[in-house]
Amino acid sequence: MTDSDTHDISRRRLLGTAGAAGAAGLVTGAAGITAAVSEDGSANGSGAPGALTSVGATAVAFHGRHQSGITTPLQSRGHLVAFDLAPGAGRKEAAALLRRWSATARTLMAGGAPAEDTDVARDAGPSSLTVTFGFGRTFFDRTGLAARRPSQLDPLPAFSSDALDPKRSEGDLWVQVGADDSLVAFHALRALQKDAGGAARVRWQMNGFNRSAGATARPMTSRNLMGQVDGTNNPRPSDPDFDRRVFVPEGASGPQAWMAGGSYAVVRRIRMLLDDWEGLSREKQERVIGRRKSDGAPLTGDTETTPLKLDERGPDGKPVIPVNAHARISAPEQNAGAAMLRRPFSFHDGIGADGVPDAGLLFVCWQADPLRGFVPVQRKLDRGDALSPFIRHEASGLFAVPGGAAEGEYVGQRLLEG
Ligand code: HEM
Repeated sequence: MTDSDTHDISRRRLLGTAGAAGAAGLVTGAAGITAAVSEDGSANGSGAPGALTSVGATAVAFHGRHQSGITTPLQSRGHLVAFDLAPGAGRKEAAALLRRWSATARTLMAGGAPAEDTDVARDAGPSSLTVTFGFGRTFFDRTGLAARRPSQLDPLPAFSSDALDPKRSEGDLWVQVGADDSLVAFHALRALQKDAGGAARVRWQMNGFNRSAGATARPMTSRNLMGQVDGTNNPRPSDPDFDRRVFVPEGASGPQAWMAGGSYAVVRRIRMLLDDWEGLSREKQERVIGRRKSDGAPLTGDTETTPLKLDERGPDGKPVIPVNAHARISAPEQNAGAAMLRRPFSFHDGIGADGVPDAGLLFVCWQADPLRGFVPVQRKLDRGDALSPFIRHEASGLFAVPGGAAEGEYVGQRLLEG
C-alpha cells in the first residue's frame, strides 16, 4: 500500500464518521453555543482526532446529469482558471486531459487524495469541493471539432462600457474550482494544473471568495464588496422553468447534441470603483440598485423576497424604484423573460498605486443560451444602468460546459469521442 493510499483511506474513515458529528455540530451552532477546542487541538482534550465538522464533511457528487458547481450553494473560496492547449496538442491530447481531470476531480470531491499527493488538504474533508469544466470557442478549431461548435459560443457582442483585457479573457478550456476551505481549493487547483502536463498551459487565473459557511446566525443571501445583498432574485431550482432557463435540454440536436444537460457560463471580471461608490450616501446607493442595503428588500417595501413593485410611484409622482435602478433594468419582465443563474465570487487582488483596492466581482452566470440570458440583459444595462459609473468590465469569457459525466465516463467524452 502506498502512502497516498493510506492517506486516502484515513480521510475516507474520517468522512465515514463525520455525518453524525456534523449534524450535532449544526444543532450546537443553532443554539448559539461556541464549540471550544482544547489546547492539544482535539475537540475533547483527549488528544484523539475529532470528527470533521459539517463544513469539512460535506461532499458534492461528481457524477450526475449536470456538472457540479452550477446549482451547488456558493462556496467560500473559488478559483477560475483558463487553459490553452499547448502547440501541437489536438483532440487526442484533449481527450486524455479531460479523462485525467475527471478522475482527479472525482477522487478529490469524494475526499480522496491524488497519487503523489502534496498533503495540502490532508486532515480536511472534501468541504463541498466542486470542479467544473468548460470549452471555449477556440477549443473547437484546435481539436478539429469546428463542425460541432454550437452557435451559442459565437462571440459576445462588444458593449460600450467594456474595458476588456484579451490576455485575461476567453481560453480553450475553463475550470471552476469551488470549496468551503481555501486549502482544499488550492490543493485541487494544483492537482489539476499538474494533470495538464504538457497538454495545456494556464492562460489566466482569478481567485475569489464568498462569505464562509456558518458566519451568519442563519443561512442568508451573500453580500458583495459594495455591501449589497446579492443573489436574491436568482432563478431557484424549484421554479418550474428553472431547467429550461439554465440547462440545455436532453434531446438537443445538431451541433449541440453533445451539450444535453450542459449550460453556458459567461464569466466577467467586474472591477468595482469602490472609492466612488463609498462616496455616495446610503440613500443614493439604494436608489442605484432599487433595494435597501440593510436587508435587500425592494425600495417599495416589505422583505428581501417581496417582489419589486415597478409601477409604484412616490408622493412626487416618480417611480419609487428609479427607472435606471439595476434591479429594475435587469429583471426578466423588462427583458422578454431573459434570465440567468448568477453564481459569483468576490475578488481582491491588492491595493493599487492609487490607493484603491483592485477588487470587485468575478461575475459567473449560467444559462441554456447566452442570447436568452446574459446578452440581452447586459445590452440593456450597458445603455442605462445606474450602477455603470461604479463598475468596469475588465475581462470576459464564454464557455460551453457540458452535462455531467455518467459513471465510467469523463466530462466532455460525448464531444471528444462522439
Ligand atoms: C459588479 C457588478 C454587479 C453588481 C454589484 C450587481 C448587484 C446586484 C444586486 C445587488 C442585485 C439585487 C439583488 C438580487 O436580485 O440579486 C442584482 C440583481 C440582478 N443583477 Fe446584478 N450586479 C452586477 C452585475 C450584473 C450583470 C453584469 C448582470 C447581467 C448582465 C446582472 C444581472 C442581474 C440580474 C438578472 C438581477 C436580478 C434582477 C431581478 O430579477 O430582480 N448584474 N445585481
